[in-house]
Amino acid sequence: MLELRNISLTLERDGESQALLDDVTFSVPTGHLLAIVGPSGCGKTTLLKTIAGLKEEDNGEIRWQGRNLAEDGDLHPSELGYVPQFSIAHDLLTVEECVASAVALRTRQADHESAWAVVEQVMKQTGLTNLSDRQVKVLSGGQKRRLGLALELVTNPNLLLCDEVTSGLDPKSEREITQLLHDLARQNDKRIVINVTHSLTNLSLFDTVLVLHEGRVVYHGPPRALNHYFSVEQAEDIYPKLARRSAERWGDSWARHRDSYYKAYKLAPAEEVPFADAKIVENREPDRIKLPSAKALTDEDESDLKQPKDSDKDSASKEPEEEDSWAKHKKNRDKKKAAEEEEHKKHHKRHEHDVEVDAPHRLPGVFAQTRELLRRRWTIFRRDRSQMWLHAAMLFGFPLLVVIFGFEGVPQVRQMSIRQDANVLLDIKEQIAHTGSLQRAGGLVSGLVLMQVVLVTLMASNNAAREIAGERDILERERLGGLRAISYLLSKILFLGTFVLAQALWMGLFVEMLCNGIPGDLVVKLVLLVMASGSMTAVCLGISGLMRSPEKATILSIYLVGFQLPLSGAVLTLPKAIEPFIQPFIVAYWSWSGSLSTMKSTSFYDAVKAVTNTSLEPANLAMFVLSIHLVVGLTLAYAGIKKSQWD
Ligand SMILES: Nc1ncnc2c1ncn2[C@@H]1O[C@H](COP(=O)(O)OP(=O)(O)OP(=O)(O)O)[C@@H](O)[C@H]1O
Ligand SMILES: [Mg+2]
Repeated sequence: MLELRNISLTLERDGESQALLDDVTFSVPTGHLLAIVGPSGCGKTTLLKTIAGLKEEDNGEIRWQGRNLAEDGDLHPSELGYVPQFSIAHDLLTVEECVASAVALRTRQADHESAWAVVEQVMKQTGLTNLSDRQVKVLSGGQKRRLGLALELVTNPNLLLCDEVTSGLDPKSEREITQLLHDLARQNDKRIVINVTHSLTNLSLFDTVLVLHEGRVVYHGPPRALNHYFSVEQAEDIYPKLARRSAERWGDSWARHRDSYYKAYKLAPAEEVPFADAKIVENREPDRIKLPSAKALTDEDESDLKQPKDSDKDSASKEPEEEDSWAKHKKNRDKKKAAEEEEHKKHHKRHEHDVEVDAPHRLPGVFAQTRELLRRRWTIFRRDRSQMWLHAAMLFGFPLLVVIFGFEGVPQVRQMSIRQDANVLLDIKEQIAHTGSLQRAGGLVSGLVLMQVVLVTLMASNNAAREIAGERDILERERLGGLRAISYLLSKILFLGTFVLAQALWMGLFVEMLCNGIPGDLVVKLVLLVMASGSMTAVCLGISGLMRSPEKATILSIYLVGFQLPLSGAVLTLPKAIEPFIQPFIVAYWSWSGSLSTMKSTSFYDAVKAVTNTSLEPANLAMFVLSIHLVVGLTLAYAGIKKSQWD
């Protein structure tokens, strides 16, 4: 049983507090399908997120199977299935791959065969078998919703929360998915399925309907008593009717009538009579109790009504007398119900050969999750042609760019350096000429090293900026499903690490070969390039983890790279007063300066010193500072992954 008692959630906006949920109390027994309906913005998604533990209530308590979720901890990831309002999966994966990935990330399976049995079972259940090879990007809205549902069914959850999985569909698909939810609730007598919907059609497939209005419960009972309670002829007239009175009055009205409805339909309030079996509820007559309708209250207090619109006036004037309307509804309802039962039986026949998926209650290990994420990330990378071309263009194009500047210059500089080393005694004329070429040589060597570093950091920011922010919605859903933050971070480190190594090493080695050797220790220079790339990747990954939108993450990362060049101290020396506050944060400075320090034993060092006043740090200090950047970046990324960022 799921019980909500006096749940309130208030939001402070512009100094005013707005109640998103106000004293929401209701209970749902297992084996039950509940619809939460209400006008747009009335708090349906908020209520669902509160039940799922994604939003924290200010007051009240939520109990699941007797457990107080606030005190005894949230639902286990495999107990809960949450299908968000906008279903999300990786566009470039196929339906089958998405479901297989959910199985691998959320369940422990004995072997490959048993994992595939679950994939096939879930796809069959949701009618996706024929679409298994289709990529998500080409699926229709309804098919995407089915997929959203399939991804949650892999753990066979006992509490399945669906947000608008039936919205925006054609009537046939809407009915099919509602029927599927109905079957899911019936298949497992430990399960509760809650579906949030705008739509007031197909309500008869639900065991009970909860109407929410401005964050308040204004009705909760069987669908067949809904029209009677609101004194309307058809459910579609309920929303206009709701608008005619304040939510407070509707809430008070329901608070007064609730007990008689709960008694009549054996839907007792949580703390009183225990719930009846859902199946009994479904077939139960209201015991010939004369149930009050909210109309009675409407008549009592007309002054409280907002001015009805013309259309509402019409429907109000057509309202039948309570008793007549009830008798008429009862007759129609009996007919409709018989037809529905018939269809339901037929449908059940279709599904009775379905196998139950065993509920796996242990999550896969950290490395199993990491492996799956990594495998999936490479699949997506391979299919994203434009990304692949961009990466290839940068990987091979950027080092070429550096070589263009160094191809002729570096060998000349080397010659000059040899001459200088050989002729210690130079006449004055030669010395002046030599000073000029020394400065040119220093400028060239310093410029080439800086260019390598800046281009490597540019590639790094491009690698990492969208990496988390670009799939935030998927990450949120998977985190709720039991994905560990550490597994996710490890998969990103391994994936991006490949790019870091490839880009930095290729940049260093290619330039070294074609320019016939830039001075300094090659190994140390390569390590510093890798570290510059790694630390910038880590920092941008941190930004990506903390930002909600990929656009924001990209812009911030680009700014960060943009500032590397002017603040590196290689082009312009920073004012001494601010240098100590800025330099520690500039990756390019440390990598550039550490690389130049490795030339200390050669005359290039003097050449470089001749063109810059910026102090050059020893390579091991540079490596140390860059590793701090790396650690800080990864810590930020971890914090960003852990921090829930549901909209
Ligand atoms: N984080 C938030 N900040 C500010 N307002 C919010 C936030 N979350 C929800 N709201 C407001 O709370 C109200 C209820 O939102 P909610 O998304 O629950 O509505 P809903 O009933 O699901 O609507 P719809 O049917 O359109 O999906 C809305 O007015 C919405 O603007
Ligand atoms: Mg919503």
